[in-house]
Amino acid sequence: MRFILLSLFLVLFLTIILFVFLVLHINFILLNLFLVAFLIILLVLLSATWPPDSPWSPQWRTDYKTAQAIIKLGKIGKASVVYDLGCGDGEVLIAAAKLGAKGVGIEIDPLRFFISKIRAKKNGVSDHLRFIKGSFHDYDISDANVVIVYLIPKTLNRLLPKFEKELKKGTKIISYRYEMKLKPAKIDKKNRLYMYVA
Ligand SMILES: C[S@@+](CC[C@H](N)C(=O)[O-])C[C@H]1O[C@@H](n2cnc3c(N)ncnc32)[C@H](O)[C@@H]1O
Repeated sequence: MRFILLSLFLVLFLTIILFVFLVLHINFILLNLFLVAFLIILLVLLSATWPPDSPWSPQWRTDYKTAQAIIKLGKIGKASVVYDLGCGDGEVLIAAAKLGAKGVGIEIDPLRFFISKIRAKKNGVSDHLRFIKGSFHDYDISDANVVIVYLIPKTLNRLLPKFEKELKKGTKIISYRYEMKLKPAKIDKKNRLYMYVA
């Protein structure tokens, strides 16, 4: 709804500005410059309204500091097999792999999938990580001992039966920002991290 309202408002705004430009006979180079600036602003504004599990929403990612907090909370190290469901640009997996962990990233957005592969290579951890382009609903995650998720509650809840069916007892699930309908084993309030144990 918010998305539709914002889009309608922006289209209306653009129409009024175009009308003013035409009535005032302002030259076309200026008009083109204005249109480019407008499109950039439109993309930034729209991306801010997109939910975190929609592709092409640039700011919904885990930063370096939060990735380190996830590693600390999950005690991720050499013995860890980390799955990041919707791995984005691979930030958490790359940080984990630098500590010797193995990891699998499943990402539906082809661009982010590609970026995560390139970043893993650039960081020299490609041999520790595997990236899969597709939906995490379609892949078995039973060899994980840590699962990372940064997804909206609706998507998290859809994953609960999968977690119940596939995860070994003792597997840690760490959710950034959103809580799941499970009893948390630990909460890192400052970094908005919720840890659950299967
Ligand atoms: C909020 S971003 C988090 C990205 C990354 N985990 C991070 O923390 O930086 C959510 C990601 O989940 C991906 N995603 C959403 N649904 C998915 C699905 N069914 N299968 C795989 N990836 C999915 C989106 O494309 C997006 O990159």
